Amino acid sequence: MTAKKWNDHYLQNDFPWDLGEPSPIFVKYFENFDGKNQTAIVPGAGRGNDAIFLAQKGFGVTILDVSEKALEIVQERAEELDLKINLVCGDVTNYTFENKFDFWVEHTCFCAIHPTERESYIKTASKNLKPNGTFIGALMSFPLTEEGPPFGGSKEEYLERFEKDFEILKLENNKHFVERRKDREFFILAKLKV
Ligand SMILES: C[S@@+](CC[C@H](N)C(=O)[O-])C[C@H]1O[C@@H](n2cnc3c(N)ncnc32)[C@H](O)[C@@H]1O
Repeated sequence: MTAKKWNDHYLQNDFPWDLGEPSPIFVKYFENFDGKNQTAIVPGAGRGNDAIFLAQKGFGVTILDVSEKALEIVQERAEELDLKINLVCGDVTNYTFENKFDFWVEHTCFCAIHPTERESYIKTASKNLKPNGTFIGALMSFPLTEEGPPFGGSKEEYLERFEKDFEILKLENNKHFVERRKDREFFILAKLKV
């Protein structure tokens, strides 16, 4: 889908993927985590549910999204909550940041980009993470077809793709997914190989 089409979704208040709250997988994972002195990048952050949650946990948060309107929404929400979030308009398949991050926190962004761009997406994550940096997120677990977004995939495919740059610590179903997505997603936790 083009940047314009994503932007139109936000302009038209049409974002069925939005949970209206941070993903429970992150809430659980970061439960006892102090984000102070840690940085996190949220690619394809949408309306910023996860970015806001991380900023509230003390992380230095940056979001990267192709939709100007989504960034505007996050900016407004952050201001209301007196939070600072860095907003970047750009493409997750090719963006290079000046400073690298401790965490790459991904929620329904990988599945939103066309499968032919998956390799570039993973490269963008690996080049923007610090050594041993953490990739955490959700990948769709239904068969990959030409129809999407969202685009699915298999465990085998994800292992093969991610193992080049990452040590995969977890790739599994997770009881903390929201009910409607429970059987449709894998939780991924991986460390960048140094
Ligand atoms: C399915 S939405 C998920 C939004 C948010 N993570 C959530 O869970 O509510 C996908 C998001 O990725 C953004 N996006 C799609 N393709 C992108 C790309 N190539 N680079 C950056 N952002 C992209 C869209 O604008 C949209 O906000």
